[in-house]
This record gives sequence, structure tokens and C-alpha cells, in this order.
Amino acid sequence: MGNRGIDYFLLVYVHQPVLIHMPAILVHTIGKSILFGEHAVVYGQPAIAIPITNLRTRVTLTPDLKAQTPTYHYDAPDIGMQGTLDDLPHDHILVEALRVFRESFSIKSIPSFKLHVSSSIPVAAGLGSSASISVGIVRAIAQHLGLKLPVERINTLAYQLEKLHHGNPSGIDNTVISYEKPLYYIRDQAPQFLEPGEPFHFLLINSAIHSLTSRVVDEVRRAWEATPIPFNALFHDIGALTAQARQAITKGNQVMLGQLMTENHHLLQKMGVSLPSLDDIVTLCNDNGALGAKLCGAGKGGNVIALVKADTIPSLLQTLQSAGWTETYQTSISKK
Ligand code: PMV
Repeated sequence: MGNRGIDYFLLVYVHQPVLIHMPAILVHTIGKSILFGEHAVVYGQPAIAIPITNLRTRVTLTPDLKAQTPTYHYDAPDIGMQGTLDDLPHDHILVEALRVFRESFSIKSIPSFKLHVSSSIPVAAGLGSSASISVGIVRAIAQHLGLKLPVERINTLAYQLEKLHHGNPSGIDNTVISYEKPLYYIRDQAPQFLEPGEPFHFLLINSAIHSLTSRVVDEVRRAWEATPIPFNALFHDIGALTAQARQAITKGNQVMLGQLMTENHHLLQKMGVSLPSLDDIVTLCNDNGALGAKLCGAGKGGNVIALVKADTIPSLLQTLQSAGWTETYQTSISKK
């Protein structure tokens, strides 16, 4: 999404009042869903992720010209987090972001600023809230420093911040949010962008069960270490489904894509990252007109993503509402 400056003015007293014009920086970033390959992607298998452009994080950076010494203020009212650098935990994203910029660009002192972060992306729901904040903060600080960075660089810097949230992220979240395009992703490789053969519509249903990605990724790692053979087989099978899904997307094959999504859900069940509520939502969607459905993201809560024909959305929404699943989002992918 484009960055816009909000103009504001500051009166500075030198010998007489001087009007200094400083632009505040406003950055919007989007949400995302993993369509195929979560968890397996951490182990080198391909995954597919899509943008959710109507879920947004908004980062506003206001230069603080009054500060006598370098001062950085963070305000995220959605999560009740507020304070200057000294008040924030030492592993806070802002602390890390400043360190990453200083080290990456050999900057001694970053000019003072106030950062305000708000988001419509639900937290701990597998829809990219942490990665969208990482990308937003990187873009805002880069602009503040007058750095015109290509999206590849924004993505690499955001990945460093993502490592704060869980030690071993595949990088898919920050990549889809940086590029804002559907992509086929293999860890440590450049993303391959997908051109859907025809539009695909998706419904996301929030189970409202909070789930921390880092915890679930860690659980899978421990289970894999304990019994590597079945887990390697699961990862491999998910990778094979993902490769087929890529074909289905580029060919515009809705039926095939839906079937592959439900198959991917069954493999995630075997991996132990589903929950009865997520299984119920998948079944409800598939019994009521969806072409396929699966949990998306780390699992153990969060959202289900269902592939739907546009004309079945109203009746499916009604069925979901009646069953108590009231928090839903919609997104589509199509040829640009
Ligand atoms: O952030 P989430 O919950 O959408 O999960 C990210 C996907 C995982 O494959 C589980 C982890 C990763 O780093 O790729």
C-alpha cells in the first residue's frame, strides 16, 4: 500500500519563532493467510500465501524535534503497550528495529521519533499481525531516515524483526506482506509470484481461539525430533500438495484447489495442530457449499480459510453465523 505523509508544523524558537515543516510518516501494511504448506515450509517444503488487503496495520512515525537527546516513544493502544525505549522490554520490536537499522546502515544516532501502531488484524490468529507490524515499522523508519529501500530489502529487515517473535520463522509471513502478492515460497529462496488463471474467493472464519505461532512451531519441532520419520513424510506430502495447488491456481481450477485445501487440512490434523473447533468449521464449510477448507497458519486456534464461489458466500455466512462463527473476513486473488 502507498505511504502518505501527514503534514504538521512545529514552532521552534531560535531568535524568533521559525516555522519548520516536518512530514509525519504514515504507512499501511496488510494481513495474510497461508493457503498451503504451513509448518512444512519451516522444514524446506514449498508453501503458498495470499495477501488479505482489507485487514490493515497502520504505523505513524512522527519526528520528535523537541527531544534534546535521542528519544523514541512507542504507542500501541490496541494491546495497551506504551512508553519510551527505557520503559519497553529489552526484546521489544522497537528496540530491535533501532538496532537493526543502526547496524545495517552504520548509523550512529537515529533522529528521535514517536511511533503509533494500530491494526485491524486480529492478534494470535494466523493472519499476519506480527509480520505486518514488522514490515510497517521497517518502512516507516526507512522513510524517516530518507532511505529509499527496494521491497527486497524491506523484506530482509522485517525478517530480522520476525525472528524476535519466534526463533525459527520460515520468512513466508514477512515476504507476502512486503510484496502484497500471492506467492509460492521456499525458505531462503526468492518468492515466486502466482498469476491466478481466474479469480478465487476465500472466506476466513476466526475460531477466536488465540494461538501463539512460536509455541505451536516449537511443539511441532519437538514432535519431529521425537519421531522424525512420520513427520518428514507429512512435510513431504504437504509439499507435494502445495506443488499441485500451484498448478490449480495458475490454471484456474477451483474444484481441484478446494480438494487440495481439505487434504492439506487432514495432513495438519495428523501433525497434531488442529483442534475440534477448527475441524468443525472445516466440515461446516464443506457441507455448505465451500469447495474446500483448512486451518491456516500455525493452528491450535486462529482461522480456517475456505474456498468459495462468490454466489455461495451469503448463504455460507448465514450458516456460519447460526452456528456461532460470527467473525469472518473475505479476500480474493485474481490476475493483475
Ligand atoms: O504466523 P502464522 O500463525 O500464520 O504461522 C506461520 C506459518 C508457520 O509455517 C507455522 C511458521 C513459519 O514460520 O512459516
